[in-house]
Amino acid sequence: MKADKIPYEKQIFVCTNDKKGEKPSCGDHKGEEIFTELRKIAKDRGLHPRIRVAQAKCLGQCNMGVNMMVYPDNVWHNGIRLEDIGTIAEKYLPQGK
Ligand code: FES
Repeated sequence: MKADKIPYEKQIFVCTNDKKGEKPSCGDHKGEEIFTELRKIAKDRGLHPRIRVAQAKCLGQCNMGVNMMVYPDNVWHNGIRLEDIGTIAEKYLPQGK
């Protein structure tokens, strides 16, 4: 096994797990759509893959979704909704960076 430096400046993990209403999950609040839109913004702004938006398949806080964690910032966001995408993009996916 080889160890190396992390190849990304920043990683944003968005939970896209959808338990289809059987249990609370990020899918109840459009985690997949939030992930897809944030990744599109990262690509459109030329940030991807230096700043990588990745999907997670459960971050273990399903009642608090949509959940997102950001490294190396070491920040956790919960309760994310579609209307928060602009704020998230402004904070973590700045244009011209
Ligand atoms: S379903 Fe998103 S944290 Fe578990």
